[in-house]
Amino acid sequence: MGFWDKIFGEKNQISTSCVKVDMHSHILPNLDDGSDSVEESMALIQQMIDLGYEKLIMTPHIMGDFYKNTPEGIREKLQILRKEVIDRKLDITLDCASEYYLDEGFVDKFENGTELLTFGDNYILIETSYMNRPHNFNDIIFRLKSSGYKPILAHPERYTYLYQGFELFEEMYDRGVLFQINLNSLTGYYSGIAKKYTEKLIDKKMVDFIGTDCHAEKHLRTLQKAMNTKYYKKLQDLNLLNDSLL
Ligand SMILES: [Fe+2]
Repeated sequence: MGFWDKIFGEKNQISTSCVKVDMHSHILPNLDDGSDSVEESMALIQQMIDLGYEKLIMTPHIMGDFYKNTPEGIREKLQILRKEVIDRKLDITLDCASEYYLDEGFVDKFENGTELLTFGDNYILIETSYMNRPHNFNDIIFRLKSSGYKPILAHPERYTYLYQGFELFEEMYDRGVLFQINLNSLTGYYSGIAKKYTEKLIDKKMVDFIGTDCHAEKHLRTLQKAMNTKYYKKLQDLNLLNDSLL
């Protein structure tokens, strides 16, 4: 009996992903608040395969003093999981990038010419504090774009500083910030208001990527509920860019 059979019973068909590529997760082991071991990572990868994913771009946090990850350290863990995938004959492609927290450390890296981990068409995944928009947000976006990067804001629906009005989302989107929503937001997993804004972003066709933001097994269990929501079906009519990353 497989993992999902145990959760949902053998007779219940599990839902599968409408995209083949996930580009936001914390599945690489021992780097941040995600997976704590290679075994946990491999269990998560197996479950992602069962959900229909063919490629995972895993994105550990790089954030101030909390998560001082480097491209070298991240690639080292990627190689460990790639070897495991080959040894276990699993049919999935693994890659890595990072979820960059916009702080002074990020600006320093950018200014010093430190390598920034990107994926696909020079996409870079960014996040901010949930409570406060960085004072230099627009400047960072302008400079990133001027340097050829395409910034993707992770889970815009989760930032409380955007809740004062939907026009704040629109203003950001009009600046060329791409939006990646978390699938679990469709269930109200984070909050009712995050769910409401996720649905509005879908209605307004302001979603470029979808991601699991998987840190642990609990996120994949909720994903099953997300895949059965009405708005998950609506998502499939959008021009999602996930599978351009295959
Ligand atoms: Fe994340």
